[in-house]
Amino acid sequence: MPLVAANWKMNPTNIDDALDLARGILSVARGHSERVEVVIVPPFPWLIGVSEVLDSSGVKLGAQDCFWEMSGAYTGEVSPAMLKGMCQWVIVGHSERRLYLGETDDMVAKKTASALSSELGVIMCVGELADHYDAGTSDQVVSAQVKAGLASCSADDSARLVIAYEPVWAIGTGKNADPEHAYRTMRLIRKVVGEMIGAGAARKVRILYGGSVNSKNVQQYVELPLCDGALVGGASLDADEFAHIVKVTAEVYGHR
Ligand code: 13P
Repeated sequence: MPLVAANWKMNPTNIDDALDLARGILSVARGHSERVEVVIVPPFPWLIGVSEVLDSSGVKLGAQDCFWEMSGAYTGEVSPAMLKGMCQWVIVGHSERRLYLGETDDMVAKKTASALSSELGVIMCVGELADHYDAGTSDQVVSAQVKAGLASCSADDSARLVIAYEPVWAIGTGKNADPEHAYRTMRLIRKVVGEMIGAGAARKVRILYGGSVNSKNVQQYVELPLCDGALVGGASLDADEFAHIVKVTAEVYGHR
């Protein structure tokens, strides 16, 4: 089943707006939850409130990050053990964390392994910077990120593993990756995942596209043969816009 995730990032700034947005998304998304796995990924303080809104609707909840240890003296961190039971998914290795918080491939690998061991699904983000794209080194960068991030993964993790290809230069910029570039990179990701956990298991790992996805351009990505959905930032803060993305995805996959 395709997966479409709403990464709200550090928005909205108050609980009332967060709950309204969750209700707005739910009112449309629940009608498609048989055909598209929809995941809302709010900031940590809004997780409990949003989980109550989603209740047993079929729309899933995710966290934007987690630490690799389960408990202890790690001020400010949130562990997979704390998220387990409330969230079904967690994003790790988002480029904004890599850029602003110095998150390394090694940290991403530890977070991925720890979250999977807590039975959370992991959406691991990879993607090249504009400099890499311009220099033609996207493939090397992305394959190194995938290899490093999956260092401790095995075939058993495949159903709970999602890789989001988000070219950093396309995030929040309104610049979309050319679908041909997105397709070639997703094909590379599938190949590298296969080298890490076996080709059969790699086919079960879903690959998403992310970076300025909106209701007008989503079709060109979700139509790509290897694309299993989208990771949406800015457009997920507008319930109607996000609902439209879910609807288009459901239609495209309904015709496959
Ligand atoms: P935008 O959709 O705002 O470009 O963000 C993409 C993203 O980073 C999702 O994780």
